[in-house]
Formats: sequence, C-alpha cells, structure tokens
Amino acid sequence: MNHYRIGVIGLGQRIAHVLAAMKEVGWMLEVAGHADPSPVGLPILADAGIDPGRAYRDEAELLADGPFDLVMIGSPNHLHFAHLNTAFAAGYPIFAEKPIVRTPEETYAIAATLAGRAAPPLFIGLVMRSMPIVREVIARADSGELGELISMDATEHLPPEHGAYLARNWRRRQDWGGSFMLDKVCHDFDIFGRIAGSRPAKVASFGGKRIFRPDRTDVPMTYEDGSAAYALRDAGWMGANDAFHSDMDVDDHQVAIVRYENGVALSFHSNSHVSLQERRWYVAGTKGTMLADLVRNKLMIRPAMDRRKPERIDYATRTADNHNGADQAMAVDLLAALQGERAFPVTPRDSLEAGLTVMAIDEAAATGTMVDCSPMWARLDSAMAG
Ligand SMILES: NC(=O)c1ccc[n+]([C@@H]2O[C@H](COP(=O)([O-])OP(=O)(O)OC[C@H]3O[C@@H](n4cnc5c(N)ncnc54)[C@H](O)[C@@H]3O)[C@@H](O)[C@H]2O)c1
Repeated sequence: MNHYRIGVIGLGQRIAHVLAAMKEVGWMLEVAGHADPSPVGLPILADAGIDPGRAYRDEAELLADGPFDLVMIGSPNHLHFAHLNTAFAAGYPIFAEKPIVRTPEETYAIAATLAGRAAPPLFIGLVMRSMPIVREVIARADSGELGELISMDATEHLPPEHGAYLARNWRRRQDWGGSFMLDKVCHDFDIFGRIAGSRPAKVASFGGKRIFRPDRTDVPMTYEDGSAAYALRDAGWMGANDAFHSDMDVDDHQVAIVRYENGVALSFHSNSHVSLQERRWYVAGTKGTMLADLVRNKLMIRPAMDRRKPERIDYATRTADNHNGADQAMAVDLLAALQGERAFPVTPRDSLEAGLTVMAIDEAAATGTMVDCSPMWARLDSAMAG
C-alpha cells in the first residue's frame, strides 16, 4: 500500500475522527502538518496515536510545503470556499467536509472551477453514502422493486445535548455554519435526490428558534437523575457558554416539503431537542415500501401486495458517535478512490446539488414563500458546463 503524506486545513473534531478511522482501516498515513488557529481535534488525534505534524501559520504556508498525497479540509463551513480555492490552486487531491460550501454564489463559483480542466480530484465527506445501510437503500430503490417512487417522509431529531452543542458551537451562526439544516441534513437531501432520481422543482419550509431562546423560564438545568444538562461537550472554535443565551441566529427546528421534478413528494421534520432520537427515511413506491432507521441501523422492506412479515436487515454496527461505522467505510472508499480502484460514492456535483437543495429550503423558510428551484438548477448547469 502507498504511504500518504497528508496536509490538514482545519484540524477540528471531524477531521481528527476521519483520520482516526483512516488509520483504523489500514491507511499508511503521515499528517505532515496542519493549518488551524486552535486545533480542536488534537486530543482525538492523540487518542488515535496520530502525530498532528507541524503547525503551520496558515493554509498558504502549509500548501507551499508539499507535495501532499491528500489535503483534508475540516474548517467551519464559511471557510470551505476559500480553503477549497487555495487547495485547488495547489493541485493536490482534496478531501473536504460537507457542506461543500455555504451559499448559492459559492456553489456556482465552485461549479465553474470544477468545470475547468485543471481541478484536482475532490472528495466530499457525505459520509452516509458509504454506510452499508444507505448503499442498500440506494440499491433497493434502483432495483425497481419499490416500483415507481411516489412519496417519502423523513426525520432528523437530535437529543438535547446534541442540540445544545449546536446552539453553542460555531454552527449557531448563519455566517459561519449556514443553517441548521445545511450543516446537519445535507447528507439526507443528498440521498433523497439520489433515490428520487430527480432534482427538487419546488420547496417550502417553516422553522424557527423556539427551543434555545433566552426568554424561556422553564428550562431545567439537570436531568431527572441530577446530572448536568446542556454542558457536556466542549463547544470549540468561537464557542458560546450557554445554549440558551448565545447569539444563535439559526433555527433549532424546521420542517420542509419538496416536490421533485419527476413528481416525487417529500416531507421532512427536524428538531434539535427531543427525547426520542430519530433519523428515519420512509420511502413509498407503487410496488413496495422501505423504512430505514439510521439511528438503530435497521432496514425494513416489503412489497405492497405482500401480507407476510417484512424483510428486515439489521446492520449490527452501532457506535456512540451515531455514525455506525460510516467513517471507517468512507475511509475504505477514499483509499480505493485514490488508488484508482473504484469511484468515490459521491461526486462533487452531487454535493453541490444537495447543498443547493437545502439552501432553497432555507430561502423558502426565510421568505415564507414556495421557492421555484428551476433558476437555481439552470445556473448550476451552466456553471458546470463551463
Ligand atoms: N460528515 C460528517 O458527518 C460531519 C460531522 C461533523 C462535522 N462535519 C463537518 O466538518 C467540518 C468541521 O466541523 P467540526 O465538527 O470538526 O468542527 P470543529 O469546531 O470541531 O472544528 C473546526 C476547526 O476549524 C478550525 N478553524 C477555524 N478557523 C480556521 C481557519 N481560518 N483555518 C483553519 N482552521 C480553522 C477551528 O480552530 C477548529 O479546530 C464542518 O464543515 C462540519 O460541517 C461533518
């Protein structure tokens, strides 16, 4: 196996976990160095026994010290655009975290760059694409056994500690994170578009900040067993102290409906403070129905005209990070892609489309209107066509 010399821009928790997963699945890797003003991921790398390499002043100094076999970008979302452009100019293969970028204008600009012949390989960390259960969801939808896809409903509900982390971390601010939905569920909308086999035609959405708000007087600061609430995780770069009294301007819950160009209808419900955690996709076709429980890592499927017990697949892996082995699966996919053995399961274009879908949903929520997505796709297609 090749030895990989890696440069990291934004050595936060996420990239540290991805590097740990890469090591776990057998990568021969060396982190040559990192550019990060306060690398939150250092303790995670230390636990994984990975040396973080030299601390560079910034990404320009890091990239000037190549060559690198891979540049990994794990900065907050508002920096992805600049970091991607700097890494494109350096020309080494790039793994960048999702969402690929934060705004529509950044999306079109990246699309135009990717259309140029000089862009290096780019792999986006839409990690759900690598999960065995998600591969099966896609395969079953593609196989035709569900018939024509008619409608889907889906959820992403987070427990209070996770929601409170988002309310204290940089994700709480639109100018850093984009939005609650963009940061958290661009994964899901990537898969919905893939299994619908179509892009959204129209979207509508409602959301708000009604959980983590300062005027609430009914907030218990402990759980029923007396343990402290809302404070378990270090909020990291630009973190705020208190989930209820921060300068958060993103929604803490949101619902959306989508009509895809081919007629498929979708409803989505997301809440960041629930006691019954859920991430679930319910996919209904003319000939069959499929239910994927992404928290419990279980899939259920049955033909519409079959009254016997449904087929159930239990993917045994469940891990505390809720990724259920996805990081390791993605690490295997990334290595295979770099070695030219097979394509990475998600393309940059998929990532741009998933991001734009959620941005359109956020626009609908912000303006209180139904958004027609066709101008957005026309701009993306024209940018991608060069
Ligand atoms: N694919 C997934 O499942 C998944 C999960 C979590 C996070 N993410 C993504 O990973 C990225 C990082 O998230 P995280 O949870 O690791 O956040 P984090 O706060 O743990 O890490 C962000 C890091 O970026 C650093 N940073 C800030 N300014 C910088 C700059 N100018 N140059 C370089 N580094 C800078 C911070 O110091 C911090 O170390 C985000 O884009 C997020 O959406 C993806």
